[in-house]
Order: sequence, then structure tokens, then C-alpha cells
Amino acid sequence: MMKRVVRFDDLMGCTAAFIDAKTPGSHLKENFSIIGAGVSENPAQHVHITEPHGFTFGGARQPPFIKNSLHSHETAETFWVHSSKWRFYWGLNGTDGEAVLEPGDFISLPTYLFRGFENVGEVKGMLLGYLGSDNPGKVTWAPQVLEAARGHGLVLLSDGRLIDTTIGETVPEGAQETQPLTPAQLEKFKKLTAEEMEPFIIRLSDIKERSGITDENVWPGFAERIYPLAGPYYPIKGQCQGGDDWYFNFNLVAVKGGPNQGSPLYCRDVPEVFNPFDGTWQFSWLDAGKEHSLVLKAGDTFTCPVGVYRSFKNIGSEEAVMYVIVGGDVPAPARLTQEQTATLT
Ligand SMILES: [Fe+2]
Repeated sequence: MMKRVVRFDDLMGCTAAFIDAKTPGSHLKENFSIIGAGVSENPAQHVHITEPHGFTFGGARQPPFIKNSLHSHETAETFWVHSSKWRFYWGLNGTDGEAVLEPGDFISLPTYLFRGFENVGEVKGMLLGYLGSDNPGKVTWAPQVLEAARGHGLVLLSDGRLIDTTIGETVPEGAQETQPLTPAQLEKFKKLTAEEMEPFIIRLSDIKERSGITDENVWPGFAERIYPLAGPYYPIKGQCQGGDDWYFNFNLVAVKGGPNQGSPLYCRDVPEVFNPFDGTWQFSWLDAGKEHSLVLKAGDTFTCPVGVYRSFKNIGSEEAVMYVIVGGDVPAPARLTQEQTATLT
């Protein structure tokens, strides 16, 4: 089971994952592939957990005032702030709108929207985020990003591979370089104001203050401590995030728990991944009738095997928040053990 845990302190990043990695102002950033390769353009990127989940999970670590360049995805992209303060901005020139997020805050970004993000805090910071599907496709860069990257030694091929000529890599014979999008191709990209993006930004204070949901079918015994953040299943701030404008194949929620609060023993037939934002969380599971456990802290990742009965509990002394991702557009109901069902009914 410990092979399914990735400790925050053990994360292995890549400093040349994307075409802008050597462009001044966007260099010094690291990309992390925690579950699945995600959209890294560098085949040398380390992938911590390769088992397909139907979605991918990764991270971006950047020092203050380093930017991740304007780009878009063919699936939904979601982030929660692990550390530092981040300015997200969007639109073809990054000027349609912006929002500053603090630790624990969350943002969900739709398909075909150019977005960038900059660490505007005072310390090196980390964002952790999910992309829809096992193969989220290639990153689409704003034309000026490709232009700025020229002359810094990185070449992006049209099949998505990145060639780093500064370390002696060469463009394979017959390979084609990615060309900037034409004005006609740029027409399909979204233009959203800050007001239009507001429903897709959830603050840690929202999670702590808002009441939960009543979906005991999916969250038996702890539904009142669930706060939907992204995905097509639960309306979030009155909006549904679904269809071609998003493409998730997962639903993402926050669980809030006080000391000793947690879940009953339950199991799912789909992947479920846990990321504590803060606190100390104990996971217990049954194997051959015996109970085992492990402990996660802030920024750690645990992907529970399909079909294993598990429970979790906040074992810290303060209220804590954990992000939980359940695979599929419609989250499969949880199954309880017979004894648990008997105690709940
Ligand atoms: Fe992205």
C-alpha cells in the first residue's frame, strides 16, 4: 500500500517540462507528475504513479515572480494552492481577468481558455492540480509564448515532444516544429471576465464556512462535511461544470473534519485519491481481516486501490481540510460493510 503514497517531501520535479522553461521570467519553475504523465512535454519527466486513474495529478513549484506562461488545455484543469500566493490571469493576452489565490484556495479552469499563473508571494510556492482524462492531450500555447521561447534552445515538435538543444538533443529527421495558432484558430478560445470566472474559484474560507451536501449515497456518514469543488456531478455555486467546456472524468471535493472526525469503513469501485491540505489524517484498511493504517500530512498523496474497504480520520488536534478526488463523471456510490450498514440504518 505504501507504493500508493507519494510524500510531499519526496516529490521529484522537472525543470525543463515545457517550451517556456528557458524563457527569462518563466525559467526556474518545476513541474511534477504525481499520478500519470499529464501534459509534460519532456519524456524524461519522472512519473511517481503510472497506474491509469482516468485523470492525472501533478504540481507546479515556482519561486516568487516566476510565471507559468499562457496556455490552454483540451480538458478541465484544477488547482489548489499548497503554499505561497498565486495570481491567475487569463485570456489571449492574459488581461481578460485575474484572481489572487492563497493557501487552500481552489480554482477550476475550463477547456479552451488561455491561462497563466505567477507566484506573487514571498516564498517558493507549490500548486497541485488535476487534469481530466488519462491523456489530457497537448498543451496549446498562446502564440507569443512560442515566439518568446525561440532562441532559448528549446524546440516543441508538433507531436508534443520537447527537444532541448542546450543539452545536445537534436530535432529528429522529418519532425515538424509546432506553429503558432492562426487568428482563425484562436477564435474558439474563451473570453471570460473576472465576474464570469468567480463561480469557479472557491476560497478556503468558503470551505470552512459553508454547509455540506446531503449525498449519503456517495459519502455515507460524512456527507455533511463534503464541499464540492469541481466536476460535472454537483452544481457548484449554482453552476454546472460539464460537457465540452470542461471535460473532467472526475469529481473533486473538500472534506472538513474536526479532531477524531472521519468516515465509516467504505469501498468504491472507482479510483479515489486523497490530498490533505492541512492536519494529520489516518487511513485504515482491511486486509485478510486485519486492520492496517498509514498517516498522511499536508501535500501528501494517497491513491486507494479500487475495491478495498477503507476509512479515514483526522487524528490532529485541530480542524483540517483534505481534497478528495473520485473517478468518473458520476461518482460511484460507496459500499459499506454489512456491519457498517447495520449501524447506520
Ligand atoms: Fe496547465
